[in-house]
Amino acid sequence: MGRFDGKVAFITGAARGQGRSHAVRLASEGAHVVISDICGPVDHNLIKPASADDFETTIQAIAEAAPASKVLSRQVDVRDAAALEQLGADAVAQFGHIDIVVANAGILNWAEFNDYTTEMFTAVIDTNLTGVFNTVKATVPHMIEAKRGGSVILISSAAGIKGQPFTLGYTAAKHGVIGICRGLANELGEHNIRVNSIHPSGVATAMGDANGLMEIITKHGATMGPLFMNTLPTLMADPSDISNAVAFLASDESSMITGLQMKVDMGTTNR
Ligand SMILES: NC(=O)c1ccc[n+]([C@@H]2O[C@H](COP(=O)([O-])OP(=O)(O)OC[C@H]3O[C@@H](n4cnc5c(N)ncnc54)[C@H](O)[C@@H]3O)[C@@H](O)[C@H]2O)c1
Repeated sequence: MGRFDGKVAFITGAARGQGRSHAVRLASEGAHVVISDICGPVDHNLIKPASADDFETTIQAIAEAAPASKVLSRQVDVRDAAALEQLGADAVAQFGHIDIVVANAGILNWAEFNDYTTEMFTAVIDTNLTGVFNTVKATVPHMIEAKRGGSVILISSAAGIKGQPFTLGYTAAKHGVIGICRGLANELGEHNIRVNSIHPSGVATAMGDANGLMEIITKHGATMGPLFMNTLPTLMADPSDISNAVAFLASDESSMITGLQMKVDMGTTNR
């Protein structure tokens, strides 16, 4: 018996990194999974794009870890509300319901303020904030209709809680995700659908490998360095550390928890 037997989980940004880890974890505990990713570049994203091969690796990893888990996979851009809504509708047509949503897809860019352009700002808002809204729009109406309750998990960041410099679009978007989380938690409580956000700090993924950002931080090290320091003696979390939080919030063990900002941040936002 797995904690998610009979459940269906909808996960965006699942081609690699944390999204892949969440998909494999939820599947290995019994869920069927609906996974999506753009599998290609996004303008003004300074992180190396994920590929269709990466996405295929996720599908293989799920098959190995959870052979009984059924997978609906599709290349979808979270900025494309219509395509995401189609995926939500197709998920319900195939599996009957959606129980768990993990809005995980994200991009990152950085520059000192004078070099940080409106286009960079807008690009991050479009994927990291509007993309989260599009994800819940594509899934939550089906969850309400099914009357099965459920768990919506929004992946924010330590940058959603503290004033992370040099990444203004990202910092604004990740703060905005808290607004979606808290407002939606209040709207959906009567349907027993819980909405919580997770706030990782550095995670060892392609995004965690943001060397250009580290160069700017180092340049301003005396004043900015402490902002990025952790309390625990670990520099980077593993994606599985974040999946532990996702699995908890997806499970009935957190059935009394909604509207929470769960920090999986090695203490950085506590400084
Ligand atoms: N890695 C970190 O240090 C860190 C820290 C805090 C929060 N996060 C957040 O965790 C989440 C996962 O990031 P990750 O660390 O796995 O990085 P990652 O770059 O490995 O994965 C992000 C995935 O999102 C996909 N994606 C990007 N834009 C998309 C779009 N428009 N539509 C669909 N898919 C899109 C990418 O293709 C990629 O597969 C993101 O929301 C990120 O902001 C990451």
